[in-house]
Amino acid sequence: MRAPRTSKILYGGDYNPEQWSAEIWDVDYAAFELARIDTLTLGVFTWSLLQPDEETYDFTALDAAVQRAVTEGKQIVLATATGGMPPWLGKTYPEVNRTDFEGRRHVYGQRHNHCPSSPVFRRLSAALADRIAQRYTGTPGLVAWHVGNEYGGPDGSCYCQNCAAGYREWLAQRYGSLEALNEAWNTTFWSHRYSAWDQIEVPNALSEHWRGPNHTAFQGNTLDFRRFMSEALLRNFRDEKERIRAHDADTPVTTNFMGAFRPIDYHRWSEHLDFATWDNYPPGRDKHVRMAFTHDLMRGLKGGEPFWVMEQTPTITASRDVNPVKRPGVLGLWSWQGIAHGADAMLYFQMRASRGACEKYHGAVLDHAGRTDSRPFREVAALGEQLEQLGDAVVGARTPAKVALIVDWDNWWTTEITDGFNRHVSYLATVLGYYDAVWNAGAQVDVVPMTADLTTYDVVLAPQLHLLKGDIADRLHAVAQRGGTVLTSFWAGRVDESANAFLMDAPGPLAPTLGIRVEEIDSAGPGETNPVTLALEEGSVDAAAALVMELIVPTGAEVIGTYGADFYAGTPAVTKNTVGAGQAWYVGAGLDAIGLRAILRQVLAGHGLIGPYAGTPDLEHAVRERVGARNEGDGEIERVHFLLNHGGVPVRVPAHVGGQNLLTGAEIHAGESLVLDPTDVVVILEA
Ligand code: GLA
Ligand code: ZN
Repeated sequence: MRAPRTSKILYGGDYNPEQWSAEIWDVDYAAFELARIDTLTLGVFTWSLLQPDEETYDFTALDAAVQRAVTEGKQIVLATATGGMPPWLGKTYPEVNRTDFEGRRHVYGQRHNHCPSSPVFRRLSAALADRIAQRYTGTPGLVAWHVGNEYGGPDGSCYCQNCAAGYREWLAQRYGSLEALNEAWNTTFWSHRYSAWDQIEVPNALSEHWRGPNHTAFQGNTLDFRRFMSEALLRNFRDEKERIRAHDADTPVTTNFMGAFRPIDYHRWSEHLDFATWDNYPPGRDKHVRMAFTHDLMRGLKGGEPFWVMEQTPTITASRDVNPVKRPGVLGLWSWQGIAHGADAMLYFQMRASRGACEKYHGAVLDHAGRTDSRPFREVAALGEQLEQLGDAVVGARTPAKVALIVDWDNWWTTEITDGFNRHVSYLATVLGYYDAVWNAGAQVDVVPMTADLTTYDVVLAPQLHLLKGDIADRLHAVAQRGGTVLTSFWAGRVDESANAFLMDAPGPLAPTLGIRVEEIDSAGPGETNPVTLALEEGSVDAAAALVMELIVPTGAEVIGTYGADFYAGTPAVTKNTVGAGQAWYVGAGLDAIGLRAILRQVLAGHGLIGPYAGTPDLEHAVRERVGARNEGDGEIERVHFLLNHGGVPVRVPAHVGGQNLLTGAEIHAGESLVLDPTDVVVILEA
């Protein structure tokens, strides 16, 4: 199953009418008409209304909200209401509350914080989902089921006795014997050989950790616990999805992810979702490259199928220390960016601001006064009009990308809980550095899991590929062999799935592909750099390395970059090996953006993948394509191009294709000059 194929990009968002009286509903729906809002997510935080005590279910409030949405002809995304627990649940069954990293059992409060292993939580959440599905299956306009909300909570972990028991069971299944577990965790180290399963404690501040969640004596244990927690939470999602499927075989089921969220391995979840959705709250103003990356990561969860933006704020967030407003035009620009990267729905949190509690000042389509003449509302309405104008032109359309970027949660976790390297290195920052370099060259990227089929890509980037799983080394080799380019970076090829070192030179199984041996890893503190000179086709490029400097011995690879300082001055920092018809690059240093962008320009140029507007800073170009509906059934590919000006100055560029401007209806001729002011968007249906 996949995202619903609707007649246009869905537009609307989280709506909590149960918090308001009926007169306000009239005001809201009148405003929704003005803004062309067609989709409402209902019921996300209604558990305590729907089930006031364990024995009583009362659907009056949700019935009324759903009924009104149906009457108004809206499409409905219906939640299972389990994102926030009711107080009676936490009081009667303390086990549903999490035990934190320090071992403290919490009492009732907040949300997104149930213990995933609690049998009571599992029973009652599934029962609620069952009742909701039974009651509302077949509701006119029901487009999707929204299970729970933002699974994970602050750190996605519970360390209670139920979780400990679940963890031991999970380990017993994974390893089959204590012998195998002792081997995998290398427990002879520090006298840790386990002789009974119940000796295994959850890894937290009371057991294996000392300076917080990233400092563990046993990486194998902590890594397995992360895997277990991710699966335990997934089990909760699946409990509810199964209940929905018992009543409704057809409507897609999803939950809203949080983008690059470390605690949960979304790749392990993805097969259980019918389509992916995420909540886009960029942590700052100039975050367009990071957002592009996250959209691509989310699109990659379902093999490139369209995803939804389930939430974004029309104006400000409330949870940050500083909550700046979106500048004029930015809401539209960022929404179009999501659509350009594969979103088929653009939804808000939320339709009307809460009256009280911590999100009362969180941005909303309607403020406390319900104004429809404010700047934010006018921008929401303007986007609504544009989306109506666009119609179904890109619904279901996919993203043609020849570049793959491998992101892997096991690597994210492992590299950040490992001692001996450099604690200032962030996996996400490394990956984003490579993404930025490709983005700057204007090439489209699929962000994919390590298990993805790599056979269709010309370029495969696998930065910081420290932990190797399955046959990834062979598959990367094959990419180069057939004429593609592969690239990996420092710390690559060092450990197996249990985070145990390979008993060979680094980069282990990747060495034959890369044609190098890494002898030492030097680390530097923040702010310290070592100059790196790159000998590229465009000439010599002066870059710099920070945080990590590996000492490389080529065993066949050509030296492309050399260090400029310290006892290893003049030795390789960057290498390129010829493999079959292709190449394998190794970037052994924490290279800066100048260096990465220069390298990626050369790599992408070699495959003809430099984007048409790569010379214009901050002008993003993205394409979606699908088998067209224009000339019935002739199988012709329809291609829609998006140009987005993220920069602070107007740009003038020649159109690289001709076609129709889908936002104005105007004809565009190839070569004609296009002017985009800051935040401007041009959408061209290629002729
Ligand atoms: C999350 C939640 C919403 C709301 C927003 C606020 O995405 O799902 O309920 O709290 O954050 O930004
Ligand atoms: Zn627990």
